[in-house]
Amino acid sequence: MEFKGRDIISIEDFSQQEINHILDVSKTMEPLAKTGSDMLKGKILATLFFEPSTRTRLSFETAMLKLGGNYIGFAEPDITSARKGENLADTVRTVENYADTIVLRHSLEGSAKLAADVAKVPVINGGTGAQEHPTQAFTDLYTMRKEKGKIDGLKVALVGDLRYGRTVHSLAYALALYNVELFLVSPESLRMRKDVLQTIKSKIPVTENANLEATIPKIDVLYVTRIQKERFPDAAEYAKVKGAYKIDLKTLKGAKKDMIILHPLPRVDEIAAEVDATPQAKYFQQVWNGIVVRMTLLSLVLGAVK
Ligand code: CP
Repeated sequence: MEFKGRDIISIEDFSQQEINHILDVSKTMEPLAKTGSDMLKGKILATLFFEPSTRTRLSFETAMLKLGGNYIGFAEPDITSARKGENLADTVRTVENYADTIVLRHSLEGSAKLAADVAKVPVINGGTGAQEHPTQAFTDLYTMRKEKGKIDGLKVALVGDLRYGRTVHSLAYALALYNVELFLVSPESLRMRKDVLQTIKSKIPVTENANLEATIPKIDVLYVTRIQKERFPDAAEYAKVKGAYKIDLKTLKGAKKDMIILHPLPRVDEIAAEVDATPQAKYFQQVWNGIVVRMTLLSLVLGAVK
């Protein structure tokens, strides 16, 4: 298992053994996330965010600061030379002179791979269009294991926008490496994209349906996603599915007492605020776990941890 210098582009590039190692190292990072460390002193992270973000960018930057490193970057491409027509490859070839690793978020599928192909430093995919968001999946798995004590044996429902939601694509690929039963709950028009479905169905039991109420009593993990309004090519199509699922206290009536609710966030209206105070709601703990996991990923790809 070699992580030093490695790009993190797709969950499909990782074995179960490698994912377990990332989760194990993350557990050892928990105390360092509280006390801080100088493990990455002198190292610089570049965050190149061509799309909006709160959690991914800020948690990577926080992770780097907690490890004693520093960061540069942008959250608004309009203030960069991309505005003058510079292409992504040239931007990456430039930034690799300034930084030891790069986190990229971009609307184009394949953009992280392209960046990794031209960069000499490790590139980490911070979200590529509707395609993948691997560091969120590591965070989700870490949260499941921390809260449920295991991943094998879990029954997990992915709910909402399974077509345009990139987090569910990465998470589904990862869960398919474990002994997990997966329920895919979405409106017909937002079903899991075919390439992902084909891969996961060949590995684990998968049920697709639109009935959340019938699914809730069966599951251990309810993973809710936002309908990705910004990715719909047609506003009328979005209007048809807007508000398709709303998790409130009534929805949760039939749930197992120890079921947990996750959400990569941001949420809009798919989880009512009244759910936040329930012991099942773990989505803000998931945010904390995102720092811990990203500390792990940075320390692994920069060779501070084996
Ligand atoms: N979960 C996630 O990717 O959140 P941001 O879009 O705020 O980074």
